Amino acid sequence: MSNEELIQIASNTRKNAYAPYSSFSVGSALLSSNGNVFTGCNIENASFGATICAERAAISNAVSSGVTDFTKIAIVGAKDFCYPCGICRQVLSEFCDSDTFEIILCNSENKTKVFKLGDLLPNFFNL
Ligand code: THU
Repeated sequence: MSNEELIQIASNTRKNAYAPYSSFSVGSALLSSNGNVFTGCNIENASFGATICAERAAISNAVSSGVTDFTKIAIVGAKDFCYPCGICRQVLSEFCDSDTFEIILCNSENKTKVFKLGDLLPNFFNL
């Protein structure tokens, strides 16, 4: 699947974001190694700390379906190049290879930036 297709799916999923507190909607689309796409959106909560980000929602969606191998994720947020937060980088690092897994961001002109996970979170915590 192309990066552009994955961005389009993330963008569509963003419409489902539940973000009444921040009004900052995020969508993500996570591609598994066997070609399936798992989507996620941010789901906020009145107890702000209970909010789940779009990226972790996608991981939860996949892992609860028994899928744990991934190749890339597209993230589309309410601003250009919506970088994943630190917690989501750590959660992605639990399942995704630092050297090969790609994080795809885009701006309003459909320009994309692609990072390796290890570029955004070098030396992630691991037990
Ligand atoms: N958010 C995400 O969904 N992903 C990120 O990586 C950064 C932040 C959400 C959480 C919250 O609902 C809103 O964006 C504002 O922080």
